[in-house]
Amino acid sequence: MDSFIITGGRPLEGEVTVGGAKNAALPILAATLLTSEPCVIRRVPNLSDIKFMAMILESLGAEVQFDGATITVRAKTLRGVGDYDLIRKMRGSICILGPLLARLHEACVSMPGGCIIGARPIDLHLKGLRALGASVMIEGGYVRAECSQLVGSEVFLGGRCGPTVLGTANVLMAAVLADGITIIESAACEPELTDLAHFLSSMGAKISGIGSPTLTITGVRELHGTEYEVIPDRIETATYAIAAAATGGEVTIRGANPNHLHAVIDKLKEANVRVERRGVALTVRRPDPLRSVDVTTQPYAGFPTDVQAQMMVLMTLTPGISIITERIFESRFMHVGELARLGADIALEGPSAIVKGGKSLSGAPVMASDLRASAALVLAGLVAGGQTQVNRIYHLDRGYESMDLKLQRLGARIERVPGT
Ligand code: EPU
Repeated sequence: MDSFIITGGRPLEGEVTVGGAKNAALPILAATLLTSEPCVIRRVPNLSDIKFMAMILESLGAEVQFDGATITVRAKTLRGVGDYDLIRKMRGSICILGPLLARLHEACVSMPGGCIIGARPIDLHLKGLRALGASVMIEGGYVRAECSQLVGSEVFLGGRCGPTVLGTANVLMAAVLADGITIIESAACEPELTDLAHFLSSMGAKISGIGSPTLTITGVRELHGTEYEVIPDRIETATYAIAAAATGGEVTIRGANPNHLHAVIDKLKEANVRVERRGVALTVRRPDPLRSVDVTTQPYAGFPTDVQAQMMVLMTLTPGISIITERIFESRFMHVGELARLGADIALEGPSAIVKGGKSLSGAPVMASDLRASAALVLAGLVAGGQTQVNRIYHLDRGYESMDLKLQRLGARIERVPGT
């Protein structure tokens, strides 16, 4: 497994361009299964999770062609049973369930397990599909769903921790081909879900309330092929913004959508970081000492859970105490122990991390545990004195396109070391 060797201490300077949003591209790729016509999707990031989803679509019978950042999918004929091992490996693959059920009236998809950031149940996905008339059971490690015809219904998708992003995606993708009207209440409002809704609309779906917690879907008989460009990755944008602030440099992030980042920009400003928006560019610098801030993760438009670990790194550098509370995933603190190896002083109290900031970090070997925790360790390595080795960076390759090369161009000393 590859590692990164980082020699810290250099401020990042220059420009970086963000790619398309992984978490928008994944359900959009799944949605291509809803039509037999070709769908051309642009600004797809070059990531292992995307290649994985392409393999899943191919295993279901779709033709998939890559041309740089453009992927063309044609799902002319399909089978409803996915490859167990392929699907099981990636949690995001659960969003093929809704499209398969809508198109074929049957789907058999391996149950995605829990993961390092929490239990990650799919009860709300199944509740929604059942409300549309599907019979769903879990058998032999598979979710088996079938129906004679999906029928529109009223569905409430709010859970213990708020709405569900992929659960809303699954029910939405099923509802677009259902008979009659579906109303999804407490729908997720994340920009990635909104992007999926726009993609479905471009295929001929009838959806109103896009971007709001109430989605009204009038089912249509069939959808057609389309061409579509995925939104910029707001989490990649936030990660580079925090990297600029943490290293005390000045970075302009191009190709971003700052409108998707109000909560992050607001917290950075509160922490004394200068953030300037100019159209699709964001310039971030830190001329003054940092101020500690408290952060609580929330569903959109609140502070994103996918930026919690990176923000924690910034707070370890900030004199004072910061309380970082995780309200979306119960175990999303795997980075805390690894940051402690670098010298961070963080105590866990239930869903909160109490960060006693202002300590200087010194490089050490650390282990990446999940995607965003890995990004946090890279950021910590960029500021730590000496050398940090971040092992198991395949997690990073799942969600950050060429992170090492992008950081090198900003002046970081970071090298990829191939694993054995
Ligand atoms: N939940 C339920 N029941 C369900 C589904 C979810 O109780 O049926 C709970 C979860 O346990 C969690 C909360 O609802 O407490 C929110 O989970 P959600 O379903 O929204 O997460 P997801 O859709 O599985 C996506 C992203 C995650 C991101 C979350 C929250 C993809 C592929 N994944 O996951 O991204 O953290 O939304 O915004 O879109 C990442 O990119 O690193 C990542 C983990």
